Amino acid sequence: MKKKITLIGAGQIGGTLAHLIALKGLADVVLFDVAEGLAKGKALDIAQSSPIEEFNINLRGTNNYKDTENSDVIIITAGVPRKPGMSRDDLLGINLKIIKEVAQGIKDTSPNAFVICITNPLDIIVMALQKYSGLPKNKVVGMAGILDSSRFIYFLSQKLNVEVRNIKSFVLGGHGDTMVAMLNYTKINGEPIENIIKSGKLSSEELNKIIERTQKGGAEIVKYLEKGSAFYAPASAGVEMAESYIKDLKKELPCAAYLNGEYGVKDIYAGVPVIIGKNGVEKVIEIKLLQEEEKKFEKSIKAVQDLFNAAKKIDSSL
Ligand code: APR
Repeated sequence: MKKKITLIGAGQIGGTLAHLIALKGLADVVLFDVAEGLAKGKALDIAQSSPIEEFNINLRGTNNYKDTENSDVIIITAGVPRKPGMSRDDLLGINLKIIKEVAQGIKDTSPNAFVICITNPLDIIVMALQKYSGLPKNKVVGMAGILDSSRFIYFLSQKLNVEVRNIKSFVLGGHGDTMVAMLNYTKINGEPIENIIKSGKLSSEELNKIIERTQKGGAEIVKYLEKGSAFYAPASAGVEMAESYIKDLKKELPCAAYLNGEYGVKDIYAGVPVIIGKNGVEKVIEIKLLQEEEKKFEKSIKAVQDLFNAAKKIDSSL
């Protein structure tokens, strides 16, 4: 039987997710949005491309949680995106309220789903979603690390003129300006990045600029778009997570996962490498951090913790 993916939020990311899932023929898709027409219109538009693209999945749009019942995967993008000059954190109050409503809807209709959250500020919203919904922690995960890593790899590939597939790296920590590029795990054509710097192909200053551009990667796009934030790359990242779950690929992916003592952190969501397979987050991988990386990671966790405390002030039930 075909799997069922529900997309809560049929805006820019939601629509792109639906399109990618359709092109891959990954699962039937339900697009849910409070703006019913948007969900219905996008579902119909994508469905009408099926004779051309030759995919064979069902797409429907709705504003009724009943239609999302028994979803295998739920991807949440409901919320408001950033406007120029706003940080992800500025979205906290409004998106927290939206996520509370979404959590209730999911809990009532798809308590067994694997839930991927994309709404920002990511680490806080995913944590709130897990608490509000009461779903198992290994079934609630946030999308950020794949996107941040992908941006970092893309910028490196442009600078070094190396194909993206020959660069391996990842970015951990919170999905904000404190995210940490794991230089110790960065390889270009199999060479540690340290060697690339020693060889003079990339200076430390250039590397630092790329890291900073990655940290501010979302804001750069917000500034260009003026209305709304990035959606193509975030959607690709969300689909990679969904696919690893549905096909039990057990891929190692950097995601915002619940930490229960790993990396010396307890009871918080943060970006770490995890294995995603048919049981959801099957394992948190504890990689060894250099002393400097550890310090940066701690700072990033502190930023997440501070923002969660701010969330608690907005809603004491958290
Ligand atoms: N339930 C369902 N959908 C909702 C709700 C709700 N309670 N509230 C808002 N929405 C819908 C909006 O109607 C809109 O169509 O969420 C959709 C969000 O889409 P966009 O505004 O296009 O935003 P998008 O670019 O997709 O980003 C969504 O992801 O990356 C984050 O920062 C981004 O938080 C933002 C989210």
